Order: sequence, then C-alpha cells, then structure tokens
Amino acid sequence: MNPTPRQVSVPNPIEATKQYPYTRGLDYLRRRSREHVAIADALTHTLPPEMLAGPIFALCDYGAGFGDLCVAVLQSLSRRRPMQAGSIVDVVDLDPRLLAYASEALGACGYSARKLTPKTFHQQSRRYQLILASHVLYYISDRPAAVADLAQRLTRGGQLAVILRSDACDTYSIRSAVRNAPSVVPPEPGRPRLRVADVEGMLRSVGLYPRTEQVIATFRVPVSDVRHRDLYSADPSTDATEFIRFVGHIPTTTNARSSAASAVEQELAARLDGDSYTFRIATAVVTGSTDVAA
Ligand SMILES: C[S@@+](CC[C@H](N)C(=O)[O-])C[C@H]1O[C@@H](n2cnc3c(N)ncnc32)[C@H](O)[C@@H]1O
Repeated sequence: MNPTPRQVSVPNPIEATKQYPYTRGLDYLRRRSREHVAIADALTHTLPPEMLAGPIFALCDYGAGFGDLCVAVLQSLSRRRPMQAGSIVDVVDLDPRLLAYASEALGACGYSARKLTPKTFHQQSRRYQLILASHVLYYISDRPAAVADLAQRLTRGGQLAVILRSDACDTYSIRSAVRNAPSVVPPEPGRPRLRVADVEGMLRSVGLYPRTEQVIATFRVPVSDVRHRDLYSADPSTDATEFIRFVGHIPTTTNARSSAASAVEQELAARLDGDSYTFRIATAVVTGSTDVAA
C-alpha cells in the first residue's frame, strides 16, 4: 500500500514567532555529546531502501541552525548510498547568519547547499525525499499548518522527520520547575508545550504514518565551567553556562530571577555527580512517511 498524503492547501503558514536565543547552548550539547550523530543514525536507519536507490536525492533541513544535524544525516546517508552529482541539499532558516554558517559547514563536508529563508522556500516548489524539522516546531505559531505544508513538499515515498525533546528529557522537567516557580512568567504564556504525541497526531492528520525512536544522551557539564551568577544573564560568559540556561529556559527579568534561581539551584543540586552536573537528554525522532510500509 502506498497512499498519497492528504493534500492540505496552506499558502504560507511558516512564519517567525521569535528569534531563537539558545542556539549556543544547543551547539555546546551537540559538539560535546555527538548527540546529533546518534540522532542522524537513528533516522537514516529507518529510511526505506527504495528511497536510497534513486540517482538523485533531495533533502531539506527546515530550521537548520548551524546545520550540524544536516551534516550528520548526510554523512550517515552516504554510508548507505553514494551522494551523486545533482543531489540537492536545501537549508532553510530565519537567520541569515545561521544559513551562512550551515552552508559553510556543509561545504566543508563536500555538500553544496542552497540557502533559503522561509519566504524563498515558499517561492519555490521543489519536492524532497527527506525533510528534517529539528527543534524548530516549538517556534512556529501554527504547528499543524507548518507540518501540513512540509508534508506537501514530500515526494511519493518521502519522509518528514520531526525531532524534538521528549517528555522524558531533563530539559522538560527542569523547564517545568522553572516555569512553575512563583512569579516566573512562562516565556510564551498560554502556548502548549510540544509533545511527541502531538507531533504523531499532526503527522497522521496529513496522511503520514508516524514512527518514533528515542535517542538518549547522558551529558556531563563540569561544575567548574558553570558561572552561577551568569545563569540569569542574557549573555553568559561560558558555553556551559549558556547550556544550563538552555536546559532551564532561565528567565533574565529581574522579578523572575530570584524565584527561578532557587528552582534552578535545586535542579542542579539534584544532578550533581562528583565534579560534574549530569543531564539526561532524551530526544524523539518522529518520522512521518507517505508509505505505510516504511
Ligand atoms: C533550536 S534551533 C535548531 C537548529 C537545528 N535544526 C538543530 O536541530 O540543531 C531552531 C532553529 O530554527 C530557526 N527558526 C525558528 N523559527 C523558524 C521559522 N519559522 N522558519 C524557519 N526557521 C526557523 C532558528 O533560527 C534556529 O536556527
């Protein structure tokens, strides 16, 4: 059975809701844990052989950031299929500096990428065998419409891979503790948090068949690298400090700071293990396939 995805007409649903402030923290996690390599492997091992067989491969990384996940996916894919001349890699991001960075990172690995903004992405109609949407749905106001829009860009047999922190991730519990601290206003009041089950539901509703894998990284941050005072600053002095800010979505406004501080310190104390803080970073890789058998 190879059903065609339900076509939903959405003119241009993907728009900026806010700039992402924690990319440096995520980058620190990725560089030190090689989590992206495990995610890339989990993802490419679910791809059906037919997808890997054709001469041309087209991949889009929507919300590519630094492009390191895209690089890891291409490297993992190239172990299963040669990337032939004419294969296409499109990186899409709101931030032109990140687009430049991502295309340079891809170029250094031998992949020539087109840089697209959400606007230029919508001005072209290319279809892709694989679309990555990694840690980007959180920032999009109408998530179901964005998923429908990306699903429309799949080739027959193509896959949309949505990557998100799972509910079992320390980021989830620490962010909840910080949000629930008295007088902390959640960064986006009233917006529901994105859960794996929501993503699976969105994929199903556009005719894609979801399949979920979890990737769990145990990640250690040396205590000596964390500047506790800087945890409540918008521009902390070390990458490790920015990482903890990312893990907790720590607010910087004065009235929220003292309230958040005790929640953060409690969460850190619970994860102190010798001279490091240990975090369990659980990521879900939810692939939606146009093909039930994939
Ligand atoms: C958390 S980063 C994830 C980066 C990368 N996908 C990864 O997993 O490492 C989120 C990225 O999405 C981009 N972004 C946010 N909203 C977007 C939108 N509406 N359209 C395209 N990109 C967006 C941000 O600029 C940022 O680079």
